[in-house]
Amino acid sequence: MTRAKIIGIGSYTPERVLTNSDLEKIVDTSDEWIISRTGIIERHIAADDEDTSDMCVEAAKSALDMAGLKETDIDMIIAGTVTPDYRLPSLSCMIQKKLGASNSATMDIVAACAGFIHGLSVAQAYIATGTYKNILVFGAEKLSSITNYDDRNTCVLFGDAAGAAILTASDDESGILSTYLKSDGNLDRLLYIEAGGTHTPYGQNGDFRKQDTCIVMHGNEVFKHAVRYMGDAAARVAKEAGFTPDSIDLLVPHQANIRIIQATAKRVGVPWEKVYLNIEKYGNTSAASVPLALDQAVKEGRIKKGSNIVIVAFGGGLTWGAAAIRW
Ligand code: UT7
Repeated sequence: MTRAKIIGIGSYTPERVLTNSDLEKIVDTSDEWIISRTGIIERHIAADDEDTSDMCVEAAKSALDMAGLKETDIDMIIAGTVTPDYRLPSLSCMIQKKLGASNSATMDIVAACAGFIHGLSVAQAYIATGTYKNILVFGAEKLSSITNYDDRNTCVLFGDAAGAAILTASDDESGILSTYLKSDGNLDRLLYIEAGGTHTPYGQNGDFRKQDTCIVMHGNEVFKHAVRYMGDAAARVAKEAGFTPDSIDLLVPHQANIRIIQATAKRVGVPWEKVYLNIEKYGNTSAASVPLALDQAVKEGRIKKGSNIVIVAFGGGLTWGAAAIRW
């Protein structure tokens, strides 16, 4: 089977920054509580007229640049998101249009914070079978559009961003060595949005409450599952790839909570200096979190050719996944 490797990576974060002290003026919270419970200091928020696809196009331009490819070289676009521009058509279609990637097939993946890793896994399978050559995978969210800024349990956590990776067949030892995906739909009510689907359609049951269009999370319960499943998934792909804790160069986890990241690192057995962290600047950007972190780690020189990387994410569904990559 042909192995897939990442030949281009890019990300975009919107200009506007929402700090903890800004949030202190909106809800009953404090900078001290947010930092000590989550590790977040600020997050980026998209402009009103900035759609998820607009952020994706910016991320894609950098990824294409690094890969040395043109938009028309892309055979498939896979977008992991829970915040597409429209319910129909898909985010990946909107990206295709705005990017001018006219030769591509498109597909969206709804796996919340694990959306990018799900996309990566699907792309890898298409490349392994020779179905597609160059696949552009996104993790992107405008979470501010589904955040209830009256709910202190959630609004302090989320930010907006997009990340993009280009995968192609590997001609050397580098590439995605192992992946793992898993879900537990029985835990659906721990992290959800009530309205907008067939269960509670918009506009059919009269006016519904604003909070029904936004994320609801039972943080404490989600936390317990995240600690367990992120650690397990990361350790599993590392083992399958033949990585020992010593041979892992960088763990790049979903940036939901610094305490979850600490527990994940401990389970995998990597020291703190081998963990990539940017939660303080961006908060939880759901599907964008891992590709944003990967892109920054590459640009900062913390990932180089030959580096052994483990990525891992966990989110609503519940869904989770991990991948071991030799860069
Ligand atoms: O990305 C998808 C996956 N998501 C996650 O992995 C998130 C997982 N969950 C978490 O990260 C944490 O559970 C949170 C950061 C969301 C919450 O932290 P926690 O330590 O689990 O707090 P808690 O929910 O148990 O709440 C503790 C207290 C409560 O007050 P009482 O009932 O003890 O008086 C909350 O009302 O903290 C209160 N609280 C806040 N206080 C100040 C909750 N949110 C806030 C806030 N500011 N923003």
